[in-house]
Amino acid sequence: MRTIRSFVRRAGRVTASQQRALEELWPLYGVDDDGQVLSFAGLFGRDAPVVLEIGFGNGETFVKQAAADPDRNYLGIEVHEPGIGHCLIKAHEAGAGNLRVLAHDAVEVLQTRVPAGSLARLNLYFPDPWPKKRHHKRRIVQDAFVELVADRLGDGGTWYIATDWANYAEHIDDVFAHSDRFTLIERREHDGEAPLDRPRTKFERRGLGKGHRIVDWCFRKNGRSCG
Ligand SMILES: C[S@@+](CC[C@H](N)C(=O)[O-])C[C@H]1O[C@@H](n2cnc3c(N)ncnc32)[C@H](O)[C@@H]1O
Repeated sequence: MRTIRSFVRRAGRVTASQQRALEELWPLYGVDDDGQVLSFAGLFGRDAPVVLEIGFGNGETFVKQAAADPDRNYLGIEVHEPGIGHCLIKAHEAGAGNLRVLAHDAVEVLQTRVPAGSLARLNLYFPDPWPKKRHHKRRIVQDAFVELVADRLGDGGTWYIATDWANYAEHIDDVFAHSDRFTLIERREHDGEAPLDRPRTKFERRGLGKGHRIVDWCFRKNGRSCG
């Protein structure tokens, strides 16, 4: 049983408009936290490639990507309530009908609710860095997580990651260097001017404000040869 989580629930005030969105817009965009295996065709009302974003924060990047890419279905998972409320407001403003939101630990959702081979792409933008050594085990990118993601991505599926923490970037390089499940397609270090196939995020802006450099990766899932 998994006990170490990659997040702690941050206290944060839910504003009145976020609260209203959580009540009124959740029925339009929210996914029930009922533990059932997801049927993406049923959830989105159509069969289309599914892009999953884990930890969308306030959802601005998630909504922009979904709105700009109407031919794919976008599922976002986040546990921070004010961020979810903000995301619902932005989704509604953008009229993004191809977007759904799930409020639960994304690792558990992947383990128990996302069918094998069902995802076209995973976006993991600025995951919590857990910079103290004693907290490194909380980082979401770990060997077992890489195996889990590889299983849930379909053939040729891609995984985009970005971080502004140099030590987390080294960790991510190490984890993928000894995994045979993914091939590195691109690795980009930059100062905010060259994000890899994504808009700038809120936490990226914060990192840049502290003088951090950004690293973006794109990995592609390796095919399994049979025999
Ligand atoms: C550092 S923030 C980055 C937010 C956003 N991606 C951005 O770049 O602005 C990381 C987010 O991931 C969320 N998170 C961390 N672990 C998670 C998990 N296991 N399931 C769902 N959300 C998670 C946190 O609640 C937090 O909002």
